Amino acid sequence: MKRLTLKELAVPMIKSIDSFNYLLKSHHRRVAIISYNLGKELGLNDKNLSNLVVAASLHDIGALSIQERDMLIKEDVSNPTPHCEMGYKMLSSFEVFEDISKIIKHHHVKYSDYVNQNDKDEIPFESCILHLADRIDILINTNGYILNQINDIVDKIEKKVGKVFHPDVFKAFKKLSESQIFWLDINNISMGELLNKIDFSLDLDLDLDKIVEFSLTISRIIDFRSKFTASHSYTVGHLASFIGSLFDYDEEICKKLEIAGYLHDIGKIGINPELIEKNGKLTDEEYSIMKLHPYYTGQILSELSSSDWFKDIVYWAKNHHEKNDGSGYPNALKDFELDKPAKILAYADVLTALLEDRPYRKGLEVDEALNIISKDISSKLSTEMFDKIKPHKNEIKNIVKESQEYRKSLNF
Ligand SMILES: [Fe+2]
Ligand SMILES: [Fe+2]
Ligand SMILES: [Fe+2]
Repeated sequence: MKRLTLKELAVPMIKSIDSFNYLLKSHHRRVAIISYNLGKELGLNDKNLSNLVVAASLHDIGALSIQERDMLIKEDVSNPTPHCEMGYKMLSSFEVFEDISKIIKHHHVKYSDYVNQNDKDEIPFESCILHLADRIDILINTNGYILNQINDIVDKIEKKVGKVFHPDVFKAFKKLSESQIFWLDINNISMGELLNKIDFSLDLDLDLDKIVEFSLTISRIIDFRSKFTASHSYTVGHLASFIGSLFDYDEEICKKLEIAGYLHDIGKIGINPELIEKNGKLTDEEYSIMKLHPYYTGQILSELSSSDWFKDIVYWAKNHHEKNDGSGYPNALKDFELDKPAKILAYADVLTALLEDRPYRKGLEVDEALNIISKDISSKLSTEMFDKIKPHKNEIKNIVKESQEYRKSLNF
């Protein structure tokens, strides 16, 4: 069975999630660079430094809407708890990210709350570093020349030391701020370069189950954006894997299908969340923007294509809106260009969408959904697939039911 290191898997994902993020273009990257330098200056050990940098690279991932984003980029954040909690919820179920998710949970912590906490282990020191790094980036005017802003930024931060910001972290910042390189690096170091500087915990070996678990964690970045589709990727992953088993694919291929299901819509991170959440029909223009998401999925996962083992997963995921007659997008591939697992994933996606509640309609029964699919079956989705699934309505019902229970257990 396959093993990958966390680094091989997580680094390409973190990099592309940052650069495709519609809401927070490169904020994560910049805060990660500042955090790295502060952590080094403060003498963090390798493990804590790398946890800090990964946490910084993902810290606002729980901000789900434009309104929430706009609030976070103000000098004073009025209600930071929801996005901190949401980020924590997304990442904490992946055991390997336990410490990282804790840093994120408290990344807006005030120094006064940090020193007065009852449980000394609850709020990590790294959260105080991340908090200051985040605020430094918010104070930088990206339209102006960065070296002309230094004094202003240091003064503004200094006023809040002891109450909002940790005095030791500020001391480290003050020292770093004297070096022009510190400021220039914020604009000029790429996420890839930065992540290459940290070693240790990212070198961890992941077995197949851990790769599945990591992919599920990543899927939440998209699934949690909408109450209505909170378990969409989850259900698609499970259905695709189930359909794979009906075709007698072995366990490894079925798990790959599960992973592809978890990751297929990750490209939606590049789309305005208001379009994804729109209550009603999309205009033609909105629809054509929405149609970019499988292309983005391909871009986000592209670096993983260099791994032989991951190549098919990427191929299936990015082609989940292709149709047999060439009417799909973004590549307008035809029947003979799509392999069977790609068709299984597309099928699982369509079926899941019909079975889910939407703002404007309730989820359909399995019978109704299969009926709708059967109407344009031969041109769009394969007949073979349809015939194979038909006798297994009950199992499909159960998978969907189990997914809905999972959604309830997420508790939001
Ligand atoms: Fe934040
Ligand atoms: Fe932030
Ligand atoms: Fe999709």
